[in-house]
Amino acid sequence: MHFIPEALDEYVVKHSADEPELLKALTRETYQKILQPRMLSGHYQGRLLSMLSKLIRPKTILEIGTYTGYSALCLAEGMQKDGVLHTIDINEELHDFQRKYFDASEFGAQIHQHTGNALDIIPTLETTFDLVFIDADKPNYPQYFHAIIEKMNPNGIILSDNVLWSGKVIEPLQKNDVSTEALLEYNSLLKEDTRIETVVLPIRDGLTISRVI
Ligand SMILES: C[S@@+](CC[C@H](N)C(=O)[O-])C[C@H]1O[C@@H](n2cnc3c(N)ncnc32)[C@H](O)[C@@H]1O
Repeated sequence: MHFIPEALDEYVVKHSADEPELLKALTRETYQKILQPRMLSGHYQGRLLSMLSKLIRPKTILEIGTYTGYSALCLAEGMQKDGVLHTIDINEELHDFQRKYFDASEFGAQIHQHTGNALDIIPTLETTFDLVFIDADKPNYPQYFHAIIEKMNPNGIILSDNVLWSGKVIEPLQKNDVSTEALLEYNSLLKEDTRIETVVLPIRDGLTISRVI
């Protein structure tokens, strides 16, 4: 879904940073070999993630929902020299694909892959985070927030993707639409929680920035 006219969207992309060659190759191979390639962040959102990470300069990053590794590589671009990025995905079949591209980047040794349910893995990570990107299954978004909030460093940033869910968040809720229901709960949770301040950006499918106070 385009929240701004398509021609304007094209203009925005054209006047934003170019996509790195490695990410172009990753995108091509994802479309050739992997189911649901539209899940990857893509050129424009990827450049935004990279820019935000470069502004934050995180030492520790957590990503929930690796898929083929596109957004992990974007976030890694802003990481400090001795930084670490933990990324979690439940789909073990994606592991080797991700590793191939992580190792082809300059960040291979700094990216730690975890395979399994993020809700099981997060409590085992003995570290705190400067930056978290939530981009996995929508029904678990509220649980992901509860799992990470006490692991955030002061001034830490939580980025949440797909929070507008193709505009469904303002449509009448359909019976059994558990994703929209969870996102409605999640968006209210972020707005109301006094430990963070939150701004929703109407970019792509909706990206929320929450800063830990
Ligand atoms: C939208 S894709 C992530 C896209 C990726 N962040 C990017 O921008 O390139 C969502 C991913 O979340 C994973 N996932 C779904 N449920 C999960 C869970 N409970 N724990 C960990 N990963 C999960 C899926 O396997 C899928 O690869």
